[in-house]
Amino acid sequence: MKNIAIAGATGAVGREFLKLMEARDFPINNLKLLASERSVGKKLEFCGEQIAVEELTPKSFQGVDLAFFSAGKGRSREFVRHAVDAGTVVIDNSSAFRMDPDVPLVVPEINPHMAFKHNGIIANPNCSTIQMVVALNPLHKAATINRVVVSTYQSASGAGAKGMRELLKQTQAWVNNEPLEVSAFPAQIAFNLFPHVDVFLKNGYTREEMKMVNETRKIMDAPEMGISATCVRVPVLRAHSEAVWIETERKLTPQEAREILEKAPGIVVKDEPVAGGYPMPWDVDETVETYVGRIREDFSHPRGLAFWVVADQLYKGAALNSIQIAEVLAAG
Ligand SMILES: NC(=O)c1ccc[n+]([C@@H]2O[C@H](COP(=O)([O-])OP(=O)(O)OC[C@H]3O[C@@H](n4cnc5c(N)ncnc54)[C@H](OP(=O)(O)O)[C@@H]3O)[C@@H](O)[C@H]2O)c1
Repeated sequence: MKNIAIAGATGAVGREFLKLMEARDFPINNLKLLASERSVGKKLEFCGEQIAVEELTPKSFQGVDLAFFSAGKGRSREFVRHAVDAGTVVIDNSSAFRMDPDVPLVVPEINPHMAFKHNGIIANPNCSTIQMVVALNPLHKAATINRVVVSTYQSASGAGAKGMRELLKQTQAWVNNEPLEVSAFPAQIAFNLFPHVDVFLKNGYTREEMKMVNETRKIMDAPEMGISATCVRVPVLRAHSEAVWIETERKLTPQEAREILEKAPGIVVKDEPVAGGYPMPWDVDETVETYVGRIREDFSHPRGLAFWVVADQLYKGAALNSIQIAEVLAAG
């Protein structure tokens, strides 16, 4: 599978695909970069070559073996079927197909075998879900998690390139004593935060919060797991952080949890009770691991454990996880 396309190549996630594929020596014969008609004429660099961006159309996929879709749910709904009809395998970053029972939802550290059960489409989970399940899964295997309560601290880039621009523009406007314009987010993001990621649903949760519930259960094959999430947007440019509380069937001591996590794939434990002895978003920029710290007993529950998880969501939460899925397929 060496003829590759990226739909949404000019976006916050799309550009990370280029960096990561180059850094990982991803095998490519031909690379097609697709975006909206607004981007036609732009060129993006890959391995020292300038590649012209083409418009995403139903005909974009002739001769394409593998397409990474990262252009939003609407575009995935509109174009993924055309790609599959052309014989292309699609790894989709949007939420369009994640909960479709015929579409595997894959995090390679957890369920790589599911990648092979595709009918043309493999879904990449939501960014806040990926980093949480990477940490939850080894603990679940060891002690069976019954319940998870999580609060997220999600960066501005989670809302794409326009979210990053808005945080920077508002910060600059505030420094220059100018009015702050709000357009990408539901409220001011600079020097502020809000418990509102994606739209509100009838049950009082937001759609982002329910993605964390439903996708976690699907990836971990744990339909009964109790999960409650509060998703918060914070004025951080890149990388999401999460405060996670779990209740397990068997008591896990912090030391045991630390040892399990240290051995688990894709995880770095950074857990010293000193200033800076914990993962922070600024430090994990453009890193591929999921970082865990602040591992401690939740003394409000006899089998409770609390910890802190940080990862670069443009990497592990999006482009990197998709590329790792492709690498699983390539390794057969
Ligand atoms: N940001 C994250 O942390 C993150 C994490 C996980 C998953 N995702 C998912 O990844 C996808 C992309 O997110 P992003 O953050 O990269 O967004 P973004 O920065 O807004 O980029 C969107 C991309 O989609 C393209 N696009 C928009 N409308 C299009 C159209 N009508 N036809 C063709 N291409 C079109 C854009 O092209 P133009 O430049 O030409 O407009 C751009 O390349 C979304 O589905 C998002 O939910 C994002």
